[in-house]
Amino acid sequence: MQIEHTRYTERFGSVRINEVQKVLELDSGNAKELASYKRVAVKMIEEEMVRQLEQKMVIVIPTKDEKLKLLEGVISGIPHECLIFVVSNSQRKRVDRFRMEADTLKQYCHFTLREAYIIHQKDETLAKALSEADYTSILDKNGLVKDGKAEGMLAAILLAMMMGKEYIGFIDADNFAPGAVWEYVKCYAAGFNMARSPYSMVRILWRYKPKIAHGIHFRKWGRVSEITNRCMNSLISEKTGFETDIIKTSNAGEHAMSLKLAELLTYASRFAVEPQELVSIFESFGGVLPMSDKKAAEHGVEVFQIETRNPHIHEEKGEEHLKSMLLPGLATIYHSPLCERETKDKVISELLHHGAIKEGEEPARPVLSPTPRTANIEKFRRIMGNYLDSCSALEKK
Ligand code: GDP
Ligand code: CO
Repeated sequence: MQIEHTRYTERFGSVRINEVQKVLELDSGNAKELASYKRVAVKMIEEEMVRQLEQKMVIVIPTKDEKLKLLEGVISGIPHECLIFVVSNSQRKRVDRFRMEADTLKQYCHFTLREAYIIHQKDETLAKALSEADYTSILDKNGLVKDGKAEGMLAAILLAMMMGKEYIGFIDADNFAPGAVWEYVKCYAAGFNMARSPYSMVRILWRYKPKIAHGIHFRKWGRVSEITNRCMNSLISEKTGFETDIIKTSNAGEHAMSLKLAELLTYASRFAVEPQELVSIFESFGGVLPMSDKKAAEHGVEVFQIETRNPHIHEEKGEEHLKSMLLPGLATIYHSPLCERETKDKVISELLHHGAIKEGEEPARPVLSPTPRTANIEKFRRIMGNYLDSCSALEKK
């Protein structure tokens, strides 16, 4: 694959945020030397390197009552070397959709001989393991994992830590194009290949996100992303003293991290999870507040933003109100100890303008889950270790 070199990097304490990089060629053929003049602008990522990284990666697919064909399509797009982990919160009563998902996955893995796991978010053993590990913030009053994609992601992070994986990537199950899924994983690998720090993150920017209503309309970015990015950039500018528009992926659902970094962040729920990851990186390593981890601060934390070639075509579920998507993301910015008057005013005026709050109101403080490194992984393993075999979709002989 060929991708634009990092042309510009913004620094914020120990954090290095790279300008958006475009994919130039999805398949760059047999390994060959680039002409030296090209090497400045273009980064060639060899197939072999990509494979090696994929072997260290777990791809998590959060899913809730998605069409089986969609889920199967997404799975078919994930490169063979990655471990797949489906975290499902689909219904089990009336129609057992989870059973249908597991059966589909089993059949698929049987024929393709690929490794995958599937677990239900409300699995009792998972809940018990989390409670033993003393990671209880994602449990509800019944002691099971709460609803929500973010809670499923967190459970998956702990599982990946237990399995000793190096990288974790997330891909939604409601994606119509297996080819796009394939490209996301390649971009994750490309980012990790370029990273100089073991603490790194890759966020995907879609070239287009078409809305299939009155004919196809290719929109570059959604409104919510635009506003969230503006406020996120303001948060940085106010601290560095330089205006910036470096962040273009505040709401990137498709993203991946090294587990070393994933362990160190705090997580919000629902639409706030992705922006909160960035806020957490800035708080922990921006150099304004005390560095939360010495080693990571020394290496630096790297954020890559990669623009794909494939458009993002995904399931539109009803009219989720712009304001209900906007509010939680902006709340993470607003309540960050880094956020000062100017950015706070910006957030408030956006929320007022879109009717998400009333005059004189503030957004509610987001509920954050503590960093996964506070979990006792050994205790988690004592319960989940053997149990995980029963979640394997590929029957082990
Ligand atoms: P959007 O694409 O950001 O509008 O959000 P979606 O509603 O499409 O959710 C993103 C992904 O998370 C989809 O694959 C959903 O099926 C999945 N998802 C939604 N809610 C949950 C949940 O409670 N648990 C899990 N594990 N996945 C969920
Ligand atoms: Co979706």
